Parts: sequence; structure tokens; C-alpha cells
Amino acid sequence: MRRIIVQGSSRNNGNTNKIVQILQNHLECDLINLSELDIHQYDYENGNQNDDFMSTIKKIVEYDLIIFATPVYWYAMSGTMKTFFDRIIECLKTEKEIGYRLRGKNMAAISCGSDSAEHEGFFIPFEKSAGYLGMNYFGHIHTWIEENDPSNSVLELIKDFSKKVK
Ligand SMILES: Cc1cc2nc3c(=O)[nH]c(=O)nc-3n(C[C@H](O)[C@H](O)[C@H](O)COP(=O)(O)O)c2cc1C
Repeated sequence: MRRIIVQGSSRNNGNTNKIVQILQNHLECDLINLSELDIHQYDYENGNQNDDFMSTIKKIVEYDLIIFATPVYWYAMSGTMKTFFDRIIECLKTEKEIGYRLRGKNMAAISCGSDSAEHEGFFIPFEKSAGYLGMNYFGHIHTWIEENDPSNSVLELIKDFSKKVK
């Protein structure tokens, strides 16, 4: 199974990236870092066709499992990640063949907050979007980093999750 992690944090090497790196030690996964890309807000007039969104989603549809990794910002996914999800609507409107290619693929999600509290409903947008896109929702884990490094319980969660998606 070809796997890719799509990281959507406001800092490349922050806490979400620490979690992503640990996951990558367990699972062979490529990585796309959205904050390194130029992806604009969704535009009803399709005025942003020359940014990096379409080339990025075209790469992503080559994979069987797409793992979205986001920090928790105000009880929700990051703005970077939300913008990316908003843009996926273009794959249902103008670039339909890309949308068709998402069907049957697997989606999973990982959040990284500052404590163990998983906010109710946090993963609903991932789960529902997967359903809408005809993707299988593999599941999710909430992780956190309180100081500088993840606790043993977070390391265990990541290990179990990686076994599940292998
Ligand atoms: C704008 C902002 C909002 C945040 N909101 C929450 C929150 O609602 N719940 C939470 O647990 N942590 C919250 N945090 C803390 C981050 O989720 C946490 O520090 C996370 O590990 C940061 O990951 P990053 O380094 O990839 O950005 C917030 C941080 C920022 C910058």
C-alpha cells in the first residue's frame, strides 16, 4: 500500500512534525508539507488555478492511503489544512477525473494538541469528507505534546495506529 502524510501545520518543524516523524519511523510514508506550498483560499471564480493545489492533489491521488496530520488550532484543524480541504471541491467541479481517482482510496487523520483532551467532533470533517468523496475512512488518533517531546502514551498510540494502517 502506498502511503502519504499530508502535514498542515503553521510551522514545518513543530510538534505536528515531531509526530509525523515518529509515524514515518514506523511506516514507510512519503510526506507533503502544505506550509511549503503556495495554496490559496478557495475561489468560486477559479481565479487561483496557477498555485500549487492542483499539482499537489494530482500527486496525492497516486497513493492508496492519505494521512492528514494537523495541529489543533482553536478546537479545529489548522487553517492550512482547512484551506486544502476547501480546495478539494475543485476535484468535484472542474477537475472531476481527479475526484474520481479519490474514490476507494483510504483516508486517516492525526491531530496534535497541547494536551490529551480530544475535542468532541474534531474528526467529523475528516470522516464526513471521506464519505462524501467516496473514500474509506481508516480512523484517527489524537496526539499531544505538552513539553518538548511526546509522552510514552503518545508513542504507544502512534505505534498502534501504524500497525493498524500497515
Ligand atoms: C492558534 C493556536 C490555537 C491553538 N488552539 C488549541 C486548542 O484549541 N486546543 C489545544 O489542545 N491546543 C491548542 N493549541 C496548541 C497546539 O495545538 C499545540 O501546541 C500543537 O502541538 C502545535 O503543533 P504545531 O507545532 O505543529 O503547530 C493552539 C495553538 C495555536 C498556535
